[in-house]
Amino acid sequence: MRIAIVGSGKMGKAVAELAEKRGHSIHTVVKGVENAGGRALTHERLAGADVAIEFTRPDAVVHNLERLIELGIPTVSGTTGWTDALPRITGMVELRRAALLHAANFSIGMHLFFRAAQELARCFRGRGEFAVSIHEEHHAAKLDAPSGTALLLQQRLWAEEPGRRFPITSVREGTTTGTHTLTYDGPHETVSLSHVARSRQVFAAGALAAAEWLPGRTGVYTFEEMLFGEST
Ligand SMILES: NC(=O)c1ccc[n+]([C@@H]2O[C@H](COP(=O)([O-])OP(=O)(O)OC[C@H]3O[C@@H](n4cnc5c(N)ncnc54)[C@H](OP(=O)(O)O)[C@@H]3O)[C@@H](O)[C@H]2O)c1
Repeated sequence: MRIAIVGSGKMGKAVAELAEKRGHSIHTVVKGVENAGGRALTHERLAGADVAIEFTRPDAVVHNLERLIELGIPTVSGTTGWTDALPRITGMVELRRAALLHAANFSIGMHLFFRAAQELARCFRGRGEFAVSIHEEHHAAKLDAPSGTALLLQQRLWAEEPGRRFPITSVREGTTTGTHTLTYDGPHETVSLSHVARSRQVFAAGALAAAEWLPGRTGVYTFEEMLFGEST
């Protein structure tokens, strides 16, 4: 496949490196400095690309998606912090019969963790003596807090126990790739479930798998729908 990489930060570089190892070619790399408001995403620049993989910033992603949808390039986006714009972007994708797969977290282990967390929430439903919390830690350069993954986890837990608070605490320091922990803390005992991403390769591999899956489809998909079927 010929892949357009939009955003050449830590994730864009990790995806490009892995894509070449897997025999794909990098059609173009669109950098932040040339692409204010998505202006570098032109028909000429993208012509011949089979798919775009977008990892940029919360303030850039929506312009990029708008341009890529208009150009009809199937797009995988891992940028976080833009869920408010999702309904509008979904409307655009449907109108244009375009294709978008987005995920706040491209790790398979994390999506299995969500399922285990929901099971835990079912077990602890109604047990008010346990204080429940979500804690997430990421490297100091991560811009959004709470993480998109923590917000997704919170939604999944609300689905199991709607009336309960699932407060999130966030730490931004050092170079840690990403840790999420769900804790039920009782008066004399603690139960916790953690997911630790040891390297960003895990996200690059997931995004690339999504880019291999998306072309030929239309509509808006999540990584979870790709992994477990479109009805999840
Ligand atoms: N879904 C997942 O599994 C997953 C995993 C890791 C990270 N993320 C998310 O992915 C995003 C990127 O993470 P990262 O670690 O790669 O961040 P990063 O290292 O800070 O890189 C962001 C890059 O985006 C570029 N950029 C900004 N505006 C742009 C634009 N309009 N067009 C093209 N490029 C633009 C920046 O370029 P300049 O510096 O030149 O502006 C920078 O190189 C974040 O939102 C992060 O939370 C998601």
